Amino acid sequence: MTLSIEKDAARENIPDPKQIPEATERTAKRIGIPKEIAAGERRVAATPDTVKKLQKLGFEVLVERTAGETAKFSDRAYQAAGCEIINTATELWERADIILKVQPPQDHPNGQHEADLLSADQSLISFIWPAQNQDLVNHLSSRQAIVLAMDAIPRISRAQKMDALSSMANIAGYRAVIEAANQFGRFFTGQITAAGKVPPCKVMVIGAGVAGLAAIGAAKSLGAIVRAFDTRLVAKEQVESLGAEFLELSFAEDGSGEGGYAKTMSPEFIAAEMALFAEQAKEVDIIITTALIPGKRAPLLVTQEMVESMKPGSVIVDMAAEQGGNCAVTQPGEIYSYQDVTIVGITDFPSRMASQSSQLYGTNLYHLLSDMGGSDDYKIDLEDEAVRGALITYEGEVTWPAPKPEKPPAPIAKPAAVVQPLVAEKKASPLVKWVGLTALASGIIAIGLIAPPSFLSHFTVFILACFVGWQVIWNVSPSLHTPLMSVTNAISGIIVIGGLLQLSGEWTTTTVLGAIAILVGTINISGGFLVTQRMLKMFRK
Ligand code: NAI
Repeated sequence: MTLSIEKDAARENIPDPKQIPEATERTAKRIGIPKEIAAGERRVAATPDTVKKLQKLGFEVLVERTAGETAKFSDRAYQAAGCEIINTATELWERADIILKVQPPQDHPNGQHEADLLSADQSLISFIWPAQNQDLVNHLSSRQAIVLAMDAIPRISRAQKMDALSSMANIAGYRAVIEAANQFGRFFTGQITAAGKVPPCKVMVIGAGVAGLAAIGAAKSLGAIVRAFDTRLVAKEQVESLGAEFLELSFAEDGSGEGGYAKTMSPEFIAAEMALFAEQAKEVDIIITTALIPGKRAPLLVTQEMVESMKPGSVIVDMAAEQGGNCAVTQPGEIYSYQDVTIVGITDFPSRMASQSSQLYGTNLYHLLSDMGGSDDYKIDLEDEAVRGALITYEGEVTWPAPKPEKPPAPIAKPAAVVQPLVAEKKASPLVKWVGLTALASGIIAIGLIAPPSFLSHFTVFILACFVGWQVIWNVSPSLHTPLMSVTNAISGIIVIGGLLQLSGEWTTTTVLGAIAILVGTINISGGFLVTQRMLKMFRK
């Protein structure tokens, strides 16, 4: 597959969203899970666990016989979860209102194209890769059905739970390290044994997006020394928080582009980073490359000379193999030895962890269907950025790519006249401050002159308590307030004891005050315990 069609070019041909016709009423009662037919695909779009979630949204779930077999989910497990097992793909596609799939529709061994099994009153939700599969998109739109592409869900905060690209990239990054470890003939962690010293393995990760960060985490947890590079400067903090070293260039250019993705860098920057990689290649044992700019061919960053300069036994995992590869000698889909270096160009990382991938992908699908209203309120809401982004064909129209969301209007500057009085209000004039302080000091001196000595000692303790209490509570950073409040249970305990000491048989002002102190102290203590318990629960797995 190549990324020859760029999104922005395709964007010009899309219909105005307002011209998209209103959807006719659709029933969304039954979900169908077909068996994946793409060669080597082991994943399935729902697991017995995610099926239960779909049922809670009001759907019945039909599963094609042996659909989950390669992901280690038996028909019996689906039946136990309340699914109906269907014998043939044709029957499944006929009976379902919504088809959930992993791979884009393709020719079925039964002689039909999967797109032709789709009818006008159905919806299909799957990976589609519309930029690479324009013919398929046209074919699907001719079926008049609703088609949503999981790979087109925008990477926005609200849609994170539906972001299948990130779920799969996370698994792929982890698996890339496992594949590298499998090819690498040594430990990742350094060891000192009776038989000799083993140096730790050095790993360099190029590109610290979702897959890159997952690879860094996995390599680090196996004990390797990990270095990483990314063109986006925000990645530095994320890399370092995983305990890896961020390789830096003395070059003032940031690669952060739109929507959290990277932008194309200047040729000078690419040359500088390649010089850095050439140095590193001689030193590290494993290189994992994940560098990619969406909609573009992957940048070529590891040259043949760099591969030749690596130590014998080294490994390169090129995660961008499918998009042309970051390494000059990668062969997509292959694992082979180039001189003494193993080049891993496999392109099916998530499928190699099919149970885990199916579970996460199925959960992404569940969240999307929940966002779309579940079974009873199933609808295509064109105002919903996640749904609109994923919508590929709708009522016979090709609706991809979605129009760019309008930029929010720039905040209107507040008129100076409104701001100034507020600022002035905050700052008391020095004269008012001095008058206030003098009045306070005179009041305290007056109390000292006329009040009885027993009152004075209580008054001093009261003033000190106010001061200490103020400092203890007010000078603490707001994020620490809740734990602090639970710690002040101790102070409340002292108040309760004080209150108890004031209680006697008669109802005097002192007893009433003592009773109030006990009540307030008790509320504070029990509240503190409740809050602490809730906070602890958040950290328990
Ligand atoms: P991503 O877009 O989150 O990350 C790509 C990273 O590369 C970004 O952080 C970007 O800043 C960085 N980058 C771009 N140009 C660079 C340059 N010149 N030098 C250094 N860094 C650069 O993408 P994601 O989801 O992490 O995927 C990474 C790669 O893994 C992609 O090629 C993707 O297709 C592939 N992948 C492969 C899978 C498979 O099984 N074949 C599954 C999932 C991901």
